[in-house]
Amino acid sequence: MPDSSPVTVPVVPVVAPALRPSEYTAALIQALRSDSGRVAGARVLEIGCGSGVVLAALAAMGAASVCGVDIESNAVAVSTRLLDDLGYGAVSELHCGDMWQPVAGRRFDMIVANLPHFPMQPVEIGGRLPTWSAGGADGRSLLDPFLKGLADHLAPGGRAVITHNAFDDLGRSRDLAAAVGLPLRVALTTLVYISPEKLVQMTVEVLRAETGRTIHRYGPYTFGELQIVEIGPAVEGAD
Ligand SMILES: C[S@@+](CC[C@H](N)C(=O)[O-])C[C@H]1O[C@@H](n2cnc3c(N)ncnc32)[C@H](O)[C@@H]1O
Repeated sequence: MPDSSPVTVPVVPVVAPALRPSEYTAALIQALRSDSGRVAGARVLEIGCGSGVVLAALAAMGAASVCGVDIESNAVAVSTRLLDDLGYGAVSELHCGDMWQPVAGRRFDMIVANLPHFPMQPVEIGGRLPTWSAGGADGRSLLDPFLKGLADHLAPGGRAVITHNAFDDLGRSRDLAAAVGLPLRVALTTLVYISPEKLVQMTVEVLRAETGRTIHRYGPYTFGELQIVEIGPAVEGAD
């Protein structure tokens, strides 16, 4: 006889995430999950940890330790709470500071980043601080110092996995990585929606040059190509 008792749905408290992760973060987590074997046992660093969700995902994949740096003290507080709540407090370490400064002299097996790299001047978008996504006129104000300092913070054989707008001059990133002895490859390309609020702030020269190339517009809707880029020695047998 079929069971006619009512289905019990567990009650989950509805809590608005303090810092809502974006599609950029989702794509980064997807790329990391698709190669999670390389995360297991790794000492991981994230520059610009925001909500802390990427560190949480890496800890869930078995990272030996997760270290996060963010310039925003609220992001550090939120990340600390998330990692503690999920039971990763003992393997996590969070610092408030600028880029490489809090981890000077230290090296990691894996470094991840979804830096502010949207080509626009610092401005508040969607209630987030200007430091959340603005990367200056060419989008590179954080990308460039990140790439220049990367080799000093990767352990031998280590690699970085980062988000990279296709309209932020991937060739320059390749050259900067090569200058510090690191090969760069695109692991994944996907489209992300660019909101009208963001679009009006975008550097006009970039928009003009990239529309039809890496930026695709359909009436009122605009999408940009987002790349997940790996930097570091390729693993044998990988693409
Ligand atoms: C696009 S958000 C990344 C968010 C994160 N992946 C998430 O999903 O929550 C970029 C982050 O970089 C941080 N940031 C901006 N400038 C920084 C700097 N100079 N050093 C360290 N972090 C920085 C911002 O505060 C923000 O949390």
